[in-house]
Amino acid sequence: MNAHLRPIEKSDLEALVYHANNPLIAKNMTNRFPHPYTKKNGEDFIAFANKMDPPNILAIDIDGEFCGAVGVHPQDDVKCKNAEIGFWVAEQYWNKGIATAMVKQLIDYAFDNFDISRVFAAIYGYNEASKKVVRKLGFTEEAHLKNTIFKNSVYTDEYIFGLRRDSHTSHD
Ligand SMILES: CC(C)(COP(=O)(O)OP(=O)(O)OC[C@H]1O[C@@H](n2cnc3c(N)ncnc32)[C@H](O)[C@@H]1OP(=O)(O)O)[C@@H](O)C(=O)NCCC(=O)NCCS
Repeated sequence: MNAHLRPIEKSDLEALVYHANNPLIAKNMTNRFPHPYTKKNGEDFIAFANKMDPPNILAIDIDGEFCGAVGVHPQDDVKCKNAEIGFWVAEQYWNKGIATAMVKQLIDYAFDNFDISRVFAAIYGYNEASKKVVRKLGFTEEAHLKNTIFKNSVYTDEYIFGLRRDSHTSHD
């Protein structure tokens, strides 16, 4: 299995909508990632993903097929040295180390291409797999915020995990 990051292309639309249309993925994402996930949602996402140069949102490509996405989102104003990361993997590939490997590549990409000193992930309380991914990559739990998230009509906690540029060993 060959997994790597690459820019998202218009030809990814069908695979994107197929894999993204999954409530088990949407429940861990913001409401900008809806369920059901329509063709129009996919078209909008592909346009959004290619707005920045270099792109801040990339496809997870597995053996030539779009199978998920990662993103790095630099913040603005006084938080401009921070960037939030996001990631999701098509369900059929869960628990094979794909997110860990692809987020590792994303972090190198983020520190190489953006003038930031910290990346962070905001993870919902029940999302143990995501917490495991970022912990495996050296992120530190920085905050546990009680009931700050209102998702699918339920309050839930939010965990902030951060990684500093000076504690990140890149390209190993
Ligand atoms: C979270 C997600 C990206 C993980 O992708 P993945 O490719 O399966 O991740 P990996 O295989 O690299 O690592 C997952 C780890 O979590 C563990 N895990 C999975 N489900 C778990 C659970 N319910 N409880 C505890 N650990 C769990 C796996 O065993 C693995 O740990 P290990 O390497 O020690 O065995 C994927 O499940 C996903 O896309 N979920 C929906 C969207 C999402 O949550 N995005 C992140 C938002 S912050």
